[in-house]
Amino acid sequence: MACRTTAGAADYLVAGLTMLEYRGYDSAGLAVSAADGSTAVFRTTQRVNALHDLAKAWGGPSLGGIGIGHTRWATHGGVRVANAHPHQDCLRRLSVVHNGIIDNAPHLRAELQQLGHVFQSDVDSEVICHLVEDALATTGDLLEAVNRTVQQLTGSWAIVVLDGETRRMVAAAHRSPLLVAHSDRGMFLASDVSAIADWVDEFHILDDGDVVEVSDDLVWLRDGVAVDAPDPIASPTQTSGRRLDAGDHMASEIDEQPEAAARVLNDIGSLIANGALWRGLGLPRFDRLRVVACGTSLHAGQVIGAGLSKLGGLAHSVVVASEAAGSVVEPGTLTLAISQSGETADVLRAIEESPPGAPVLALVNNAHSTLARKVGSVLVCPAGPEVGVAATKTFVCQVLMGAGLVISALVASGRMSQTTARALVDDLAQTPERLAAAADSARLALPGVIQDVRSANGFIFLGRGAAVPYAAEGALKLKELTYRWAEAYPAGELKHGPLALVEDGTPVVVVDDADPRLVGNIAEVSARGGRILTIGQPGSRIEVPLSKHSPCGPLEAVVPLQLLALNLAADLGFDVDKPRNLAKSVTVD
Ligand code: F6R
Repeated sequence: MACRTTAGAADYLVAGLTMLEYRGYDSAGLAVSAADGSTAVFRTTQRVNALHDLAKAWGGPSLGGIGIGHTRWATHGGVRVANAHPHQDCLRRLSVVHNGIIDNAPHLRAELQQLGHVFQSDVDSEVICHLVEDALATTGDLLEAVNRTVQQLTGSWAIVVLDGETRRMVAAAHRSPLLVAHSDRGMFLASDVSAIADWVDEFHILDDGDVVEVSDDLVWLRDGVAVDAPDPIASPTQTSGRRLDAGDHMASEIDEQPEAAARVLNDIGSLIANGALWRGLGLPRFDRLRVVACGTSLHAGQVIGAGLSKLGGLAHSVVVASEAAGSVVEPGTLTLAISQSGETADVLRAIEESPPGAPVLALVNNAHSTLARKVGSVLVCPAGPEVGVAATKTFVCQVLMGAGLVISALVASGRMSQTTARALVDDLAQTPERLAAAADSARLALPGVIQDVRSANGFIFLGRGAAVPYAAEGALKLKELTYRWAEAYPAGELKHGPLALVEDGTPVVVVDDADPRLVGNIAEVSARGGRILTIGQPGSRIEVPLSKHSPCGPLEAVVPLQLLALNLAADLGFDVDKPRNLAKSVTVD
């Protein structure tokens, strides 16, 4: 993030970085112009709000309106202040913030060290400062120096370079998102428009290979050649009403799920059974679905793919985005890329590597995201902003949008009658109520459950058929938030090895959608002393209203699973909104 304003850079940067903290919160930093022509640098391994205190306590020359800031998710080098951005060159004239990974940093670092450059950190990003330093010494022009520098880099970057001596600021991007905007308050740069949307009405997005001088008239180079700035895009309405410093986002996002589900059904409900949702996308008919996603979005994809196979008899595959390279895309395949943020690098790379011309549909929660811009056909989930790092309401919305999409596509291709589709839509319409009832039921049962499992080191999650992705989602939430081991298996697979993990008291969470085969699997676990926690059909420890006909399987069971993870983590004293080592949006491969 960066700003060029008349005053108050530190305040703008801290406010913007607070909105960007979901990208990573291992450390944070600012470099701000000071009245005497120097640059004040503040860095911390605490959270962004600590920068506010550091800047307030600053006893040096008064701080001005030009600055850059960063919040880091560690890739190269441990979490320590020296590795926090901004980084500086040997003379402390240049300050740099960088998102992405410089793949050839080890080689460049060795070369620069041979030339006499002294490094202060372990991070790949620091090579950029020293490369610009050398290029600036030769060219005397910051724009040209950054342009020359990026030509030596391989990998991904969104960078802003601030020259403390001249107060010039140059940005560049390649395979990492970066946008620039100006308004009557000044110029702003950010990797996500949410950071600056309060202050700007529109913004320009840097494309791969762009280098831009952030002055009153933007000087825009594309692959080294001067071009006009790309057309501006209108800023979304800001969400700053949300208090990002409050530590209860995940809890309220879980609570919001019935409302978010109702929003999805309100948006698309009338477009499903007549096939209009599908037809509106303008995509060709498909015979098989290939889902590409990561983490929770991958689990949503598993639910959606299973729904398609069950309702339409069409084949589906679910590909972990980071492993998509080399996966075969047969003719007649629709690739569905699912990403809440639309910025997950693994998903973006997987899509770039899809065969040319093969149809791709993106399901995102952010209409302005890189994925939404890269892919011709897009469905946007109306989940609203999700601040808690662990995905909750966006998962529910992805599943519902996906179910609507599948039904609509089957109707449009003549594979499902409108009558059948209408019955499914009527069933979907009950989802908000069922989600609310599931939350009530979980809240009653969870205090006792937490007492039972709080000292357990490891958990097993089981399901069969349509419940398997929900078991996986329950295990993922528990791992993320409580730092306990949690493994999910199709229940029938347990006896093929993982049953060895079960000992007296091992919690085994079963998503019980009344599949009769679960009875035997539960008995096998109980016989070994496992502590069974059933979630689902009547008689379960946490009873959840499930529909036998829902195209989403036992979706409502996800609410108790989320609340189990949330409440156990809170009981153990962990930060549920910002679990350790994680970031909400992972923009590196
Ligand atoms: C889990 C979680 C992550 C994300 C994953 C993909 O709670 O949030 O597993 O689901 O990083 O992120 P998106 O959906 O933004 O591509």
